[in-house]
Amino acid sequence: MCGIVGYIGSKKATPFLLEGLTCLEYRGYDSAGIATIEDNKIEVKKDKGRVKNLYDLDGIDSLVGTVGIAHTRWATHGKPSKDNSHPHLDNSGTFSVVHNGIIENHNELRNFLISKGYSFASQTDTEVIPNLIHYYFNNGENIGDNKFLSAVKQAVSDLKGSYAIVVMSPLFKDELIVARKDSPLVIGTSNGENFIASDIPALLSHSKNFYLLDDNEFAVVCKDKIKFYDINLTEHRKGIKNIEWDATETGKNGFEDYMLKEIFEQPNSIRETIGSRLKLGENCYFDDLEISEEFLHNINQIYIVACGTAMHAGLIGKTILENLCKIPTTVEIASEFRYRNPLIDEKTLCIYISQSGETADTIAALKLAKSKGATTIAISNVISSSITREADYSIYTHAGPEIAVASTKAYTSQVVLIAILAIHFAEILNSYEQEKLEALKADILDLPSKIENILADTSKIKNFADKVYTEKDMFFLGRGIDYAVALEGSLKLKEISYIHSEAYAAGELKHGPIALIENNVTVIGIITEPDLVDKTCSNLQEVITRGAKTLIVTNMQLENNCFDFVIDIPEINHLLSPILSVVPLQLLSYYISKNKGLDVDKPRNLAKSVTVE
Ligand code: G6P
Repeated sequence: MCGIVGYIGSKKATPFLLEGLTCLEYRGYDSAGIATIEDNKIEVKKDKGRVKNLYDLDGIDSLVGTVGIAHTRWATHGKPSKDNSHPHLDNSGTFSVVHNGIIENHNELRNFLISKGYSFASQTDTEVIPNLIHYYFNNGENIGDNKFLSAVKQAVSDLKGSYAIVVMSPLFKDELIVARKDSPLVIGTSNGENFIASDIPALLSHSKNFYLLDDNEFAVVCKDKIKFYDINLTEHRKGIKNIEWDATETGKNGFEDYMLKEIFEQPNSIRETIGSRLKLGENCYFDDLEISEEFLHNINQIYIVACGTAMHAGLIGKTILENLCKIPTTVEIASEFRYRNPLIDEKTLCIYISQSGETADTIAALKLAKSKGATTIAISNVISSSITREADYSIYTHAGPEIAVASTKAYTSQVVLIAILAIHFAEILNSYEQEKLEALKADILDLPSKIENILADTSKIKNFADKVYTEKDMFFLGRGIDYAVALEGSLKLKEISYIHSEAYAAGELKHGPIALIENNVTVIGIITEPDLVDKTCSNLQEVITRGAKTLIVTNMQLENNCFDFVIDIPEINHLLSPILSVVPLQLLSYYISKNKGLDVDKPRNLAKSVTVE
């Protein structure tokens, strides 16, 4: 949540800052602002609303400064407004700060600063930071030989919570200071200019060489050098990372929206996820996953922990892992897991799934399991993201940058990756018939062409969307693995179309929710579990009797088909069917959202990367 950027070089900072903010807008988009140094003073332009509004702000074209910082906000403390927008200044206008994260003790710090004569112009937690820096600049001790850095260090030492900050001052106009704790921040470096951002894709068109700031680390960024410091301000050297992603991967490539592009990218993203890990006739192979055979044989339980769509991928993962490896597996929501003292010991394997690798609750849940002695694996799409730096082992989905807030290709790649991981474990454990594993591998290799098949004709789904987009409520039903897909389909619909929807295990409907079924309400059924098809059909019959209209996504030949609409998907092993059955549901929510004229890629109130609790 919240995107931050910074620039220091010889060119005008504003064009880069605006472009960087546009790339980061998926992180938050209720207000935006930039600040540059102009004639030895800080000039701030900010307002509520989208980044594009900044282009029209009075005086934005007159900013010529070559040092600047900028921010796009997802409000936590204080509603979206001009005053609450970043960058924030201290009372004297000497220090300007952009911040991503939450300062949990901001009230206490605010009272302290008020007692010292400071006043506040916003309701944000962030505004304490520039004022604290000012306070320590004038009243603190001098740690090391950089007075600016020393003041920033003393200020952040007082902060509880999470932060990634960039600080700028006209007194030190040749440097920007950055610091982070539990919020992401990267520095892209080039000849004679350096760039700062919350994520790598925002900088790809300017640099392929990055420094990934660690927790409790500081950097002093000048146009032609960068110095790194630990928490005691002892300088250290830091390795540079070369990132191979192509900047064009982050464009829309002719699609109207990122979400549609990402839905259509799924055949390729899955090919990338499979990579060289899975081949017919050979054991699956993971680089960098040197879990000992002894540990695998002794695992007492597996926890899969994640949030949102990633948690739904975990639900499929549980079924696959339990089937193939015969190890009890529990899926937990990270924000619950982290506070409930789960039963974990050194025989427990905890798998954390996070597209961004920056979700605060998932990272905290990982730290908890590590502290209790568990072995941890992170599944992420973002190389060197925070979660991968914390986990014992990291495996990557390699789905390419996902920009739309509603996750699509990252989800299918997460499921594919867990399936390959489960096969890998089953091969080591000898827990599943070899022949069946080979058949499953062949099915995984067929997934891309089967998705291509679904995407080749989307007209049926589009027609259905045209019929139902004005509705207020919808229901998603499924049993077994189809229930997990129902949850994901329902989440997609809520996220981008703002239609209230509920997902139920089909057999549970009659225990209450069936009271909500009335004439003409839409019920979407997913039917791919061969052993449960009749049962799910009976449950759907119950809603048809009560007047519901039904859309079915299935790979079965349904007898006595009494449904209003049926979307056929290709046959596949039922453990992998979610990777196919979710695609029509992704498209359905997309087309409904388009019909309603909504912003598909940036739905209201959401953010792609939730770096706060
Ligand atoms: C946010 C996004 C969801 C995403 C969830 C977990 O809520 O809006 O789309 O599934 O975070 O994100 P992660 O990056 O950890 O997978």
